Amino acid sequence: MGAATYPPRTYPSRQAASCGNFPGFMTGDRIVGGEAASSPIPWQVSVRQGQSGWGHFCGGTILDAKTVMCAAHCFDKDQSMSGYYVAAGMTDRKDNNAQKIEIANGVWNAQMPYVGNNNDFIILKLKSALTFNDKVGAACLPEPSHAPDATGQTCFVSGWGTLESGASGLPDDLQWVAVPTVTNAQCNEAYNGITSSMICAGLPTGGKDSCQGDSGGPFICRNDNGKAVLTGVVSFGIGCALADYPGVYARTTAVLDWVKDNMEGGSGSPPPPPPGPTTQGPTDGRSEERRVGKECRSRWS
Ligand code: ARG
Repeated sequence: MGAATYPPRTYPSRQAASCGNFPGFMTGDRIVGGEAASSPIPWQVSVRQGQSGWGHFCGGTILDAKTVMCAAHCFDKDQSMSGYYVAAGMTDRKDNNAQKIEIANGVWNAQMPYVGNNNDFIILKLKSALTFNDKVGAACLPEPSHAPDATGQTCFVSGWGTLESGASGLPDDLQWVAVPTVTNAQCNEAYNGITSSMICAGLPTGGKDSCQGDSGGPFICRNDNGKAVLTGVVSFGIGCALADYPGVYARTTAVLDWVKDNMEGGSGSPPPPPPGPTTQGPTDGRSEERRVGKECRSRWS
């Protein structure tokens, strides 16, 4: 038999050479939130149908130059990614100077499939590499033991989602907000069925949260080295920013090996052949409200 266990599981994590450097506006020691980002958040992407910002329907997080984390519920299982793009390096989602790269394929997790609201992850592999610079870069992956909810750490969520539940339009400018994590036990009092693949964050009085159109985007905590780690993926909630109803995020540490395997240089299998013709809808003539609404109209998304 050959080198069956190569590469070993004990390999150092395949991090981007540099990851998780907070932009200046996020480094103040005062907790601010619910405001427009004054410069791009390097790991934040807009996931869209077509290249234009009008097609935005979810957020995403850059893990390396060709790998983006997003939420499973943003897509239909095994759908074609033809004509779907990520855009990076902008605050205005309609900025034409953003880096726009088509998605090559989505990686669905066979071991921990997305069922109900659980394991709300999809990895997006890009057709070509993003160029990392001041405005575009990766978030770091957490250590396996990373659990900011154990201490109630305040973390950050960002995106182009609606500014309130049920709002009809998306903001043009990237928004971010700081929210404290809550324990799964506490979160389960609001939502039955909180699992170990979820992590929750919100204020007891509400007022700060992610919302529709933020899904798939980054829930980021600062680690002991001051780096931004991808703690979670915007997943679901009842309404937005309601008292006693935290936002629920897909917990990255639950699928960490799968994530590493599917990053560049990972042991993941090569991308599957491009799927055949699909019954996907038209690529235009569909408003952003409809796209976002597709996944998010229910109070559960
Ligand atoms: N499901 C929503 C989306 O698709 C995200 C909702 C997050 N909700 C919340 N209350 N944090 O964009």
